[in-house]
Amino acid sequence: MKYTIKDIGFADEGIERIEWASRHMPVLKKLEIEYKGSKLFKGKKIAACLHVTSETANLMILLKNVGAEVALCASNPLSTQDYVAAALVKYYNIPVFACYGATKEEYYDHINSALDIKPDITMDDGADLVSTIHTDRKELIDNIIGGSEETTTGVIRLKSMAKDKALRYPIIAVNDSMTKHLFDNRYGTGQSTIDGILRSTNFLIAGSTFTVAGYGWCGRGIAMRAQGLGADVIVAEVDPVKALEARMDGYRVMPMKEAAFFSDIIVTATGDINVVSEDTIKNMKDGCIIANSGHFNVEINVDYLEEHCNSKKVIREYVTEYDIFGKKIFLLVEGRLVNLASAEGHPAMVMDMSFADQFYATKYLIENAGKMNPDVYVLPEEVDRNVAFDKLNTMGIEIDTLTDEQVKYLSSWNIGT
Ligand code: ADE
Repeated sequence: MKYTIKDIGFADEGIERIEWASRHMPVLKKLEIEYKGSKLFKGKKIAACLHVTSETANLMILLKNVGAEVALCASNPLSTQDYVAAALVKYYNIPVFACYGATKEEYYDHINSALDIKPDITMDDGADLVSTIHTDRKELIDNIIGGSEETTTGVIRLKSMAKDKALRYPIIAVNDSMTKHLFDNRYGTGQSTIDGILRSTNFLIAGSTFTVAGYGWCGRGIAMRAQGLGADVIVAEVDPVKALEARMDGYRVMPMKEAAFFSDIIVTATGDINVVSEDTIKNMKDGCIIANSGHFNVEINVDYLEEHCNSKKVIREYVTEYDIFGKKIFLLVEGRLVNLASAEGHPAMVMDMSFADQFYATKYLIENAGKMNPDVYVLPEEVDRNVAFDKLNTMGIEIDTLTDEQVKYLSSWNIGT
């Protein structure tokens, strides 16, 4: 079996982590029991480009245990847990192509190696697999029945491919399932972003001024958790409805350039480029910490910091100090996604739902092979209901069901006061 990982010697640590995550992924466990005997996934080849974490490992193991053949590469050069990669290779015979700190060239080599299995299905987090297939590996397209996409940034890329009629096979936007974005993006990103900031800086959030750029589901989660820890939270947002919502949720709202004057910490979660721009950097206070939680490292203008600083140095793991315009600015993990690069990503408890959705997306693609046009799709609402129901169950929570009388009332239009 071919693989590219940092060190197979890390495998024993990896297996402990994978098993720890598994304890908190009961929905995936239930799926394994339910589908182990099924022939549906048998022999289906899946190339997955996901963050190589202990949670992802559990999804890969599930897919393998229900009969699929998987190959895994990283969806970001700084998110791989090398011990997990080693354990997947050594103990599960799953080919992994990923190393923490891969160069750009290595990163794409890894993607191409995963694609060498000639997938029937692709699984992406950020759409780098799909875009590589559509540019450099077009010969694979005819064999592919469809793909799934995990994150907001990837869905945006894929929708623009579909709009340009460039997309050649159907994609399920797992991110758009409610049991994904309402939980993973909000509570997962909320907690793991704060976790990444704390692990790298040990900064006291209480009493700080904490600016969040972007009030999508990720931004909401980060703002909520920062406020919960005692920060004075400012939201910078371009969408007037979301900005209004942020204000009514209790945060200060203002343009980023202005927020820079007050901020002790600035975190981006927009999915767009140059959000922490030249002007924002000029306005920053001495000591400002900047971090990105969006998928790509484009939100903070790192080039500007690099080009205009007098000097820079790494002052502790994950923290680079820039001496610029007479002040010190602290950039976390090179502006890459802080929640995975300096922490462990979202907790298993929330990834349990996201990856159950990934599993259902794979199942849906197999069951509907040849029937879907090249476009971006959302999983049926019934899947959300099943995943939420199963999650509640594993949490020991029961809910009410509508009575016949209530069902009838909801479906009739002629019963008034
Ligand atoms: N994205 C965010 N957190 C993650 C995790 N723990 N595993 C895989 N993908 C993630």
